[in-house]
Amino acid sequence: TSCGSDSAAGGTDDDGTITMGFAQVGAESGWRTANTKSIQETAEAEGIDLKFSDAQQKQENQIKAIRSYIQQKVDIIAFSPVVETGWDTVLLEAKRAGIPVILTDRAVDSEDTSLYETFLGSDFVLEGEKAGEWLVENAAEADVDGDGDVNVVELQGTTGAAPAIDRKTGFESAIAADDSISIGASQTGDFTRDGGKKVMEAFLKSEDGIDVVFAHNDDMGLGAIEAIEAAGLTPGKDVKIITIDAVKDGMAALAEGKISFIVECNPLLGPQLMDLAKKVLAGEEVPERVVTEETTFTQEQAKEVLPERQY
Ligand code: AHR
Repeated sequence: TSCGSDSAAGGTDDDGTITMGFAQVGAESGWRTANTKSIQETAEAEGIDLKFSDAQQKQENQIKAIRSYIQQKVDIIAFSPVVETGWDTVLLEAKRAGIPVILTDRAVDSEDTSLYETFLGSDFVLEGEKAGEWLVENAAEADVDGDGDVNVVELQGTTGAAPAIDRKTGFESAIAADDSISIGASQTGDFTRDGGKKVMEAFLKSEDGIDVVFAHNDDMGLGAIEAIEAAGLTPGKDVKIITIDAVKDGMAALAEGKISFIVECNPLLGPQLMDLAKKVLAGEEVPERVVTEETTFTQEQAKEVLPERQY
């Protein structure tokens, strides 16, 4: 090894090549596919030797992958934790092996923040707030059955995942500003299209007067559209849909009027991740939190940007 700070004892290989082990959540959504592509393409462009694993949304698989990266003595480990809890042991193993860790996209709830160098990703609470604020501003229009109450059903992300917990928190705090808005039912669709469809089918049977669907990601919103259409209803008219991510399929549904509003979550984390990895391994100071910049899209805005949307 040539260089590195105390916590980054791994440094780089003798020839200067950085080896990174990346433990990905899975391939559950369009967002995740774009995220994986960004990480793989940036590593290749920058000559970083990337060892990549897909945990199929299972924490045990991610822990196994991290342990194998430790055994292989990679220079640095990055991962997107599927859930927030239960990481201390394996992170301590990495720390003891002198291998620095970067959290990407999702947070862990470890109290010992020395277990990782930095956390790069979105502010999920803010994303939920932006979704809720839009609903508060558009509450009259969102009361599609005109009964004076805006009945929301929520399609939550993976149970225990930072984006599911935080987006719910942010959305609830924003809608608290308007008494007419309430969440009538809330269940996980595991961030997948199929999960969103199945939960929405069940909601359409069990819930009366659904006005709005708040889906924690585009894929679940797209699954909900399938369920709504199969029930003979028109998404965007009979039921308003709000989602998070702004991947191409979501933006197309927004431009078509099936989705009403999308809060962006940026998956293109590759360049910032590789930059942080290089700095950590060079022993440079990095901020403990790097927040991604994001925007929101209305139907009109989606029509404008859709042709240039990369993912
Ligand atoms: O952690 C980011 C979330 O995970 C994205 O919003 C979702 O689409 C993905 O599966």
